[in-house]
Order: sequence, then C-alpha cells, then structure tokens
Amino acid sequence: MFDEQSDFENRMVAPDYAPSDNETEPGLRPRTLQEYIGQSKAKENLAIYMEAAKARGESLDHVLLHGPPGLGKTTLAGIIANEMGVNLRITSGPAIEKQGDLAALLTNLSEGDVLFIDEIHRLSRTVEEILYPAMEEHAVDIIIGKGPSARSIRLELPHFTLIGATTRSGQLAAPLRDRFGVILRLELYSPEELAQIVRRSAGILGIEIDDEGALEIASRSRGTPRIANRLLRRVRDVAQVLHGGAITLPVARAALDRFEIDELGLDDFDRRMMRTMIRNYGGGPVGLETLAASLGEEAVTLEDVVEPYLMQLGFLSRTARGRVLTAAAYAHLGLTPPAVTTGEQQQFF
Ligand code: ADE
Repeated sequence: MFDEQSDFENRMVAPDYAPSDNETEPGLRPRTLQEYIGQSKAKENLAIYMEAAKARGESLDHVLLHGPPGLGKTTLAGIIANEMGVNLRITSGPAIEKQGDLAALLTNLSEGDVLFIDEIHRLSRTVEEILYPAMEEHAVDIIIGKGPSARSIRLELPHFTLIGATTRSGQLAAPLRDRFGVILRLELYSPEELAQIVRRSAGILGIEIDDEGALEIASRSRGTPRIANRLLRRVRDVAQVLHGGAITLPVARAALDRFEIDELGLDDFDRRMMRTMIRNYGGGPVGLETLAASLGEEAVTLEDVVEPYLMQLGFLSRTARGRVLTAAAYAHLGLTPPAVTTGEQQQFF
C-alpha cells in the first residue's frame, strides 16, 4: 500500500493541512481558550494579554505565533478573535501578491478585527513595506499614478490585531519581527495532551473510543493535533469495518500497524531517511542539502516537517557540521550503533 517511494505529500502523518482534513477539522476547533488543550505557557500569557487589552478597551497587540505545522496556530487566531469579540480575516503570505492586495484587506477591516496571515515569512519585501505603517501607525500609504505625477495618499485604518503565523521565525525580516508585541512559540504536544484532544474530537464526531485506544492514537501522532485527528478518522474506518465499531487498544494498534505507522508515529519516510543516513553517511554528520538530494525531497521540507519530531524523540541532532543520528535512532531501527556512535563524536576521541 505504501511503497518505499510513496509520495511524500500524501503521508498520513504529514502535519500540513490536507484537503481531506476539511471534512472535520473546522468543526473540531475549540472556540475558547478554556476548551483549548495544551500549550499552557502560550495560553496563560495570551489570557493575561487579552484580559488587559479588554479592560483597557483596546485591541490586542500584534501577535506572532511560531512553531511546527499542525499545532493549532489558525485555531488560536480564531480563539483570540472570538474571545475579543471581533471578526477574523484569514489570508496567507503567498496569497498576497501585490501591495494593493494587502491594502484592500487592511482597508476593509472593522475596528478591533483580527487579521491572520499564515506563512507570514513568505510575504514579499514590497508587500511587507505596506505592513509596517499599518502595524505601527494604523495607516496605509497608497501611491496613485505613475512617473512624475505619482503621489502618495495616506488612508487611516481602524485599530486591528495582526496575527502572523510562521514555521520559520528565523526567516522573518527583523523589522517585521520587531513590530510584534507578543511572540508565542507553540511546542509539540505530549501524548497525554493529544489523548485529551482525541477524546474530545471523538466525542464531537460520535466515535466510541476508550482511554487506552485514545492514548495509542495520541502516541503515534508525532505531537501534532492535526495528525491525531486525521488518524482518529482513519482508525474509526478500520474499527467500523473490521472490528464492530468501538476503538479500543487492540483495535487502534491493528489499524495503525496496517497504516505502517509505528509505535512512535514514524512512517516509511522517517525510516527511509534514517536508513539513508546510516547506509550512505555512516549516521552523519551529513549536510541537510546532501541528505535532501539523496531522498529526492526539498531541504526545507525535511527541516520543517520531518526533523522536528525526530529531534523531539532524541533521534536526530542538528550540528554545525550536519545532521547526526543518535544511538536511540539505531536502537529503534533494531540496529547496533557503531562503537563510537557518530562521526560527529569521533572527532573528540
Ligand atoms: N484541536 C486541535 N488543536 C486542539 C487543541 N489544542 N485543543 C483542543 N482541540 C484541538
């Protein structure tokens, strides 16, 4: 079913939004901070900032959310808008091609609205220039005409909250980053937190599941709610057709094994990457670009999508000389690490 070269885009454990997530994802999104599970640090800080802004009758300061994909950045933006009692407008960096596109969005906002820009690191520099005065002075400067007769007019904007989301805060231009008053980092979720999310989602979707079944799905979801909810839907199918309906521990295990997602949530691609590192590069260090070329993938994809979870598991480290697999990764593949675990460590012996 999943051959070795199976296309990466359709991985069941991809954290990016897939069109099929649309079946249920919007309906599963919590609407209040109270309902939002996990991310306790970000949540506590947000609650304080929102209460303070509300008490002063002001809009919330601009917020930058960063962290791996699938952790609920759009969901948090929706919660902020809901709790502040304002509208949410959603767009993304690549969707805004021209200065005029952004100017049109900004001038259509109402007082206090939240503008959510996903993948904000992909805004072009010229579009970013419109954003600076908008964020700081609540104004857009529009150039009318061309050549010597061109003139600039300034349009006043309502107070608004920009929420920017990015998987790569390092790529954000410093002047843009500096204009966010609130910067929140979202972390991968623990299996226990994900199990709570799975139970909540199952409740909403009318899926019968026990605590152990929920924890099993959670443990194989790579710290990512979007993956947990997607696996829940697929496990439900298997439970319904092959096991009479309810999701229990053995049913969850059988279904996830069928999908070739192992007990840590790793799939064929992860295993192929680790094996390639071992077979071709002695476990590392190997440069990201070299590794990506060996696997026929983009370096940014490996960096954003595959590596964060392998690093959280302690299977991979990023060093100045390249990527290095750890002894734990070898053990997971049932292999014995070389006597001195990695090339990176060899230089110290
Ligand atoms: N669905 C996706 N993310 C969630 C979260 N953090 N809490 C509850 N439900 C969610």
